[in-house]
Amino acid sequence: MTGASGAVYGVRLLQNLPGEKILVMSETAKTIIPAETGYTPEQVGAMADAVYSDGDLAAPIASGTFDYDVLFVVPCTESSVAKFACGIADTLISRAFMCAVKEGRKTVLVVRETPKSAIMLENELKLARLGVVIMDANPAFYHQPETVDDMVNFVVGRCLMQAGVKQNLFRTWGEGPSD
Ligand SMILES: Cc1cc2nc3c(=O)[nH]c(=O)nc-3n(C[C@H](O)[C@H](O)[C@H](O)COP(=O)(O)O)c2cc1C
Repeated sequence: MTGASGAVYGVRLLQNLPGEKILVMSETAKTIIPAETGYTPEQVGAMADAVYSDGDLAAPIASGTFDYDVLFVVPCTESSVAKFACGIADTLISRAFMCAVKEGRKTVLVVRETPKSAIMLENELKLARLGVVIMDANPAFYHQPETVDDMVNFVVGRCLMQAGVKQNLFRTWGEGPSD
C-alpha cells in the first residue's frame, strides 16, 4: 500500500484476497490509512500473514528468487509509478516491483490520481507495455451501486479477477440481481 488516497481499496483487498498475504505500507500510506479508514496501520497489518517495513530491503520479496503469485500495489501513487517506470528500487515496494517485473510475475497497480499529467500517462504507458496491469481506482456504475462500499467493492472485485479469484463483491455485466 502506498500513500495515495483510497486506502480503503487496499484494506478491502486484504480482507477478501485468499491465500498468504505479505504486506508493505509506505510511510505516507501509514498516515493516510488511519485518516481514511479509521484502522491503525497495526490493525491493517494484522489482516496480512506477514508485514515488512518499506525500508527493509532484506525482506524476502526484495529478491527475485522469492516465489509468489501476484504483486498488488493498492492504492498506488504516481510517485511510485514514476519510480517503477524508471527502475528505481530504493524502497521495499519499489524493489519488489522491480523484481516482479524482471521475473515476469503478475503485477497490478491500482493508481489513484486525477487529473493526470503527460508525465504520469507516459510512466503508466511504459509500465503497461511491460505487461503491468494499470487499474485506475475507477468504479463503474452499471451494477447500480447504492453505497460507497458498493463502489469500493467494484474496484476490489476487479482486483480479485486479475488474481484469478472468483469474486462476489459485485454483479458482473450480464449477471441477474439474484445470480
Ligand atoms: C493525504 C494525502 C493524500 C495523497 N493522495 C495522493 C493520491 O491520491 N495520489 C498520488 O499519486 N499521491 C498522493 N499523495 C502524495 C503521495 O503520498 C506522495 O507523492 C508520496 O511521496 C508518495 O510516496 P509513496 O508512493 O512511497 O507512498 C497524497 C499525500 C497525502 C499526504
